[in-house]
Amino acid sequence: MRILAIDTSCDETSVAISENDRLLSNILNSQIQKHKQWGGVVPLIAKQKHIDSIDSTVEFALRQAKTSLNQIDIFAVTYGPGLAVALEVGIAKAKEMAGFYSKPLIGVNHMIGHIYANFVRSSNNVFYSKLTDTKIFPCIALLISGGHTELIYMQNHLDLKIIGQTLDDSIGEAFDKVANMLDLGYPGGPIIEKLAANSVVTPYTLPIPLRYTHNLDFSYSGLKTATLNLIQKIGQVQPSKFELNLGVEPEAEPNGFRPTFSKKNTYLLEQKEIYNVAHAFQIAAAEELAIKLNKALKIYPVKTVLLGGGVVNNKYIRTILRRITKQNNAKLFYPVNTKLLSDNAAMIAITAYYMFQMGKFTKSHILDRIPSLSSDKL
Ligand code: KG4
Ligand code: ZN
Repeated sequence: MRILAIDTSCDETSVAISENDRLLSNILNSQIQKHKQWGGVVPLIAKQKHIDSIDSTVEFALRQAKTSLNQIDIFAVTYGPGLAVALEVGIAKAKEMAGFYSKPLIGVNHMIGHIYANFVRSSNNVFYSKLTDTKIFPCIALLISGGHTELIYMQNHLDLKIIGQTLDDSIGEAFDKVANMLDLGYPGGPIIEKLAANSVVTPYTLPIPLRYTHNLDFSYSGLKTATLNLIQKIGQVQPSKFELNLGVEPEAEPNGFRPTFSKKNTYLLEQKEIYNVAHAFQIAAAEELAIKLNKALKIYPVKTVLLGGGVVNNKYIRTILRRITKQNNAKLFYPVNTKLLSDNAAMIAITAYYMFQMGKFTKSHILDRIPSLSSDKL
C-alpha cells in the first residue's frame, strides 16, 4: 500500500511517500531562514511559504520515490496541533488529491507522528530507531519539542494516555527563549547545545522547577525566569531592536504582513559567561526531564522508552535520558535519522499506515484543522 503524507504544521513544508511502513521519500522544505530575522515563526509568512512550495514538494517526493499520483493508495495529512493557517495549506492539498483520485484520506495527529517516527522502516526493512518487533509494548513515550513536553503511556499501538505534561512552557520553547535573551538566533536549541559544550564546568546552578512534586508534570517557565535573572545579573543591557531602529517599524511586505521589531532588551555577556549560562541552563532543563522520566518508570515499569520531537537532537539530553532508562532496566529508542526528529511527513505516513490497519479513516468533508489538538487524540 502506497501512502503520500503531508505535514505543514509549522515552518517546514514536508511531503513523504511510503510503501506500508517503509520510507520511499521524505522531502523537507524548511522556511527557517525566512523566520530567523523575527526570532520565531511568523504565521502569515509560514502560510505563504507553504502555499508557494506545496506543489513542488509533492512533485519532488513522488519523483524521489519513483512513483506517481495515480499509484498512491492513501493520502494522509497532519490536522493538528500546529499553526492554523499553516495546517490549512496541507489539508487543502491532501483533500484535493484524495478527492481527484477517489482515494481514502487519513488525518494524523502531529504529536502521535513524533512518536511514530520510531516506527519508520528503511528500505531494508529495519526500524531507523533500531527498535525490534519484539516486546515494544507497553512503553513510555517522551515528547520533547517546540510546543510540547509530555510523557505518554502506550499500552499498545495507538492506545495512548498522557501521564505527564508541562504546566507552562515546553522545553524547546525554553531553549528558544534563552537563546533569544542573549540574541543568539533561532531556533535556540542547537545554538545553546553548541555553546554549552564549550563550558567544561559551570559556576552557576539553576533551579529544577518541579523536582519535589510527586506527579509527572513539568514546568519550564521558572527555569526561564531564573536564567533571565542570572543573565541580568552578570550581563550588560543592550538596546532592543526597536530602539536600535529609532522606533521605526519595518515596511509592510507585499502580502500585507507588517513585521515588528522586538521591544525586548537583550544582554551582552563575555563569551565565557555565555558558555557557562548555556551549560547551566542545559543541565537544569535535562535534569527536569530525567527526574520525571525516572518517576514515570517507577510508576509504569515498562521496558521501552521512545523519544520524539526536535529536542531529541540534543546529545547531552539523550545521554542523561539513556542513563535513567538503563537504571530502570529499560531501553531507550529514538529515530537515528535526524530528518525524522524535526518536523517531517515520514512520521505522518507511518502513523497513517498504523491507523489504516485499524480502520481509522477520516471523512474528507469533515477533516478540519485542530490547532490545539491533544496528543492522545487520534
Ligand atoms: O519537533 P520540532 O522540530 O517542532 C515542533 O513540533 O515543535 O521541535 C523544535 C524545537 C525547537 O524549540 C528547537 O529549539 C528544539 O526543538 N531543538 C533543540 C535542538 N534542536 C532542536 N533543543 C535542544 N537542543 C537541540 N540540539
Ligand atoms: Zn513537531
